[in-house]
Amino acid sequence: MVEIVPTILVHSKDEFIKRLELVAPYVSRVQWDIMDGHFVPNTTFSDPLVFEEIEEKELWKGPDPDVSLLKIEADLMVQDPERWVELLKHPWVDRLIFHVESKGNHQGWLELIQEAESKSFSVGVTLDPDTPLERVWKFLPKVDLFQAMGVKSGFGGQKFVPSVLGRIREVRDAFPNLPISVDGGVNVETSPGMVAAGATELCAGSAIFESDNVDEAIKALEDASSNV
Ligand code: DX5
Repeated sequence: MVEIVPTILVHSKDEFIKRLELVAPYVSRVQWDIMDGHFVPNTTFSDPLVFEEIEEKELWKGPDPDVSLLKIEADLMVQDPERWVELLKHPWVDRLIFHVESKGNHQGWLELIQEAESKSFSVGVTLDPDTPLERVWKFLPKVDLFQAMGVKSGFGGQKFVPSVLGRIREVRDAFPNLPISVDGGVNVETSPGMVAAGATELCAGSAIFESDNVDEAIKALEDASSNV
C-alpha cells in the first residue's frame, strides 16, 4: 500500500496546528515544509516550539505521550541544514529530508547524515527536477529514503514535471528496497504514473488541503495509487 503523506506548507502557527488537526485522524505521517527564504524564495512557519502547544492541546494522544500516533518529517529547504538537526530534536519528528543543493561538499553530507542518524532521525535525500541525479546517487546506499521533487522547491500548487518519472524508475531499478517518495504535483491524475515508476510514498499538499473534504481527498489518492 502506497503511503499518502500530507505536506504542510504554511506561514503561521495557527495554520500549522489547524492542518495537523485536519489530517491527524487519517494518516500516520505528515511532512512539514521548512523554508528559510534563502535556499528557496519562500519562508514558512518553522518554529519547533509549536510542539509544546500541541502537547498542551493533546492534539492526538497515543498511549505513550512520547510516542505520537502521528510521525512528522521535516523537508529542509534551508541553507544550513546542520542547525535544524539540533532544532528539530523531538519525539514526534522522526525523519529529516535534506536537499542536496543546500551543501556543496560530499564529506560534509556524509557527516551530516551520520549526525542526524546519531540523533535517531531517519534520513532522506532529495533534489529538484533540474538537478542532475548523480548529485545524490552516492548517498542513496546510506539513507532511508529518496524523495523525488516533482516540482522546483519553494511553492505548492505547481505542475508535476513528467521527466521526474524517469529518475524514480532509475533509482527503483538500482535500489529495489529503498523507500521512494514524490513531493510536488501529486494528485489523482499524476499518482498512478509515480507509483508505476516505483514510488512508495506520495507527498501531497494542494490535492488535500485545497479539497472540500480532507478525508475523501486522501482516500481518492489512496485509491488512485493502489492496484497500479
Ligand atoms: C515544494 C513543496 C511542495 C509541497 C507540495 O517545495 O514541498 O512540493 O510540499 O505541493 P503540492 O502538493 O501542492 O504540489
